[in-house]
Amino acid sequence: GKVAVLMGGRSAEREVSLMSGSGVLGALRSRGVDAHPFDPSEKPLSALREEGFERVFNILHGPFGEDGTLQGALETMGLPYTGCGVMASAISMDKWRTKLLWKGAGLPIPAFELLTDDTDFEAVEARLGLPIFVKPSTEGSSIGVTKVKAPGMLRAAYEEARRYDSIVIAEQFIGGGEYTCAVIDDRAYPTIKIEPATEYYDYEAKYFRDDTVYRCPSGLPDDLEARARNLALQAFRVLGCRGWARIDFLMDEAGGIYLLEANTNPGMTSHSLVPMAARVEGLSYEDLCLKVLAAAHV
Ligand code: DAL
Ligand code: MG
Repeated sequence: GKVAVLMGGRSAEREVSLMSGSGVLGALRSRGVDAHPFDPSEKPLSALREEGFERVFNILHGPFGEDGTLQGALETMGLPYTGCGVMASAISMDKWRTKLLWKGAGLPIPAFELLTDDTDFEAVEARLGLPIFVKPSTEGSSIGVTKVKAPGMLRAAYEEARRYDSIVIAEQFIGGGEYTCAVIDDRAYPTIKIEPATEYYDYEAKYFRDDTVYRCPSGLPDDLEARARNLALQAFRVLGCRGWARIDFLMDEAGGIYLLEANTNPGMTSHSLVPMAARVEGLSYEDLCLKVLAAAHV
């Protein structure tokens, strides 16, 4: 039957989703799936039924596509869709609540604080120590994120993040490297080490620069690799994820692992990470798309 590839949308990650979506669309079509693009910012979701779609591959990123709202609408319509359900999508879109949940489950995360208009910014700088990452709680692709390196700069970073979300978090910097782990069908894939040429893995480094170095396999010693994959799986399960997600984490110099966030509709662009990890396990981009689609559910 007809498959709608939900792409675009109206979040700040719209452009990223269009890149992911064109990859997914091409891959599904190349394998004979009757796939068509569908942008819910241009048409009401009710058109999915009217146009005869039987399943949905959801590759929208950010609010209104990855945050549970759309998942709820699809559940109500009874249309099978890929990826996480309502609750896991909603919690994962919110970095603050994700941290609270992981912390409650005893999983390791970096120290963090909420920032508000009333925050004593100097005191937070003192408690977390510089550098500090400041992030809007509900965005992706590093949009609105600042790495604060100099004293006195925390408030400006807060105000920047505040443009994107009313919840803003300050997070302790962990300096041993940035990694990610794809979980597909309740199985953790090889970790990837990300070595940006920029100060950190920002929007440009994620999608447009060709000097970001990705290592997969990541080069972690076997015991650490196993621990990282195990933590990613636990992080996935605690959030109630299903289908697939990508869990980002940092390492310190001593091999400590610190979970950062879960991405429930992970990027599928030419620069993206889940396809990279899948390939290392012999799963091509096309096979990955078919596998994710096969797990579509209501
Ligand atoms: N939020 C982007 C799409 C990602 O995590 O891959
Ligand atoms: Mg993200």
